[in-house]
Amino acid sequence: MPPPILTVVIPCYNEAANVAPMVTRLATTLQGIAWEAIFVDDDSPDGTAQMARAIAAADPRIRCIRRIGRRGLSSACVEGMLASSADYLAVIDGDLQHDEALLPAMLRSLQAGEADIAVGSRHVAGGAAEDGFSAWRRRISDSGTILAQFFLPQRVADPMSGFFMLPRGVFEDVAPRLTGRGFKILLDILLSSKRKLRVSELPYSFRPREAGESKLDTLVLLEFLTLLLDKAAGGLLPLRFLSFAAIGALGVVVHLCVLWLVLGPLGFTQAQWLASFVAMTVNFWLNNRVTYSDVRLRGAALWRGLLLFYVVCGVGVAANVGVARLLLRDEILAWGFAGAAGALLTVVWNYAVSATLVWRA
Ligand code: GDD
Ligand code: MN
Repeated sequence: MPPPILTVVIPCYNEAANVAPMVTRLATTLQGIAWEAIFVDDDSPDGTAQMARAIAAADPRIRCIRRIGRRGLSSACVEGMLASSADYLAVIDGDLQHDEALLPAMLRSLQAGEADIAVGSRHVAGGAAEDGFSAWRRRISDSGTILAQFFLPQRVADPMSGFFMLPRGVFEDVAPRLTGRGFKILLDILLSSKRKLRVSELPYSFRPREAGESKLDTLVLLEFLTLLLDKAAGGLLPLRFLSFAAIGALGVVVHLCVLWLVLGPLGFTQAQWLASFVAMTVNFWLNNRVTYSDVRLRGAALWRGLLLFYVVCGVGVAANVGVARLLLRDEILAWGFAGAAGALLTVVWNYAVSATLVWRA
């Protein structure tokens, strides 16, 4: 068997029923091309990895990476690509929604030097999305596309696509700068490249899912926004910090809303306590789902984390008030700046301490 020139990376979570059909389809469509496939599974409870290994035991073109204690579509794709020695890398969903028949054309286009990256696109002539999205989801998806296009240096009709191919050299150039967070790996690659990558889009029809279910919930939207924010900030601040700070700002809004709601029936101190608790709880939940989605706390660890988070934030607020009063008393800063300095200190403190103690990231 000749060494592969094409590695097809297949991120999988609970896709056991789709593994064998995927291999069959790849074998049919990639005839005449030296290929291999790497399934990257995040320890799915449905036995996806066992399924892939059973096939790999009889077929040397198939490999499987099983990750334990971690979740994430983008990081799974990155790890799969890093495990390849082939000249070309492709990423395709493991649920058969992408059209694998496009792969040979993608490869030809790259080999002809027509582009730096070939993208399977739902939004160019001939492409379609039969995904059964509701009008509401469609609108969110379209807004995401427009927002992403605003940040991109080149015109890409479907920057949210998770189906693409690129030469390994192009990937290795951007790999050190990838955030690897969230689920928009193509967007991450396009935004992380130092030079403007030439994109060619090939139309395909996004198929409805037959087996298993989608893993993307509404919170991935927040992850998507933090990815854009990170790239816009030039990677100066860590992505987790930006996410934490944005959620913190949201917490202030929650706090004020609760305060406004209960201030009549409750006295100010009581209302302030209640508002703080609600805001901290909302913040903890959002941080656990978004900022720390890859090391999300569950079960008993979740409650322990929540209690610790209350303590950490409590100390943060005390420090905030203390510092702001000190700066104000010694007339070092005007009240607005003293307040802002206190708030900034709180965010940095809360972030640094909760990162190490609560989420141990
Ligand atoms: N290893 C791993 N870890 N794989 C994952 C994870 C994870 O945490 N989450 C999802 N996957 C796998 C799924 O098993 C599936 O094979 C693929 O990633 C896509 O996940 P879906 O849950 O089916 O997402 P979708 O259908 O809503 O959206 C996909 O297609 C869009 C259109 O191209 C995604 O790939 C989007 O990024 C893409 O835009
Ligand atoms: Mn899918």
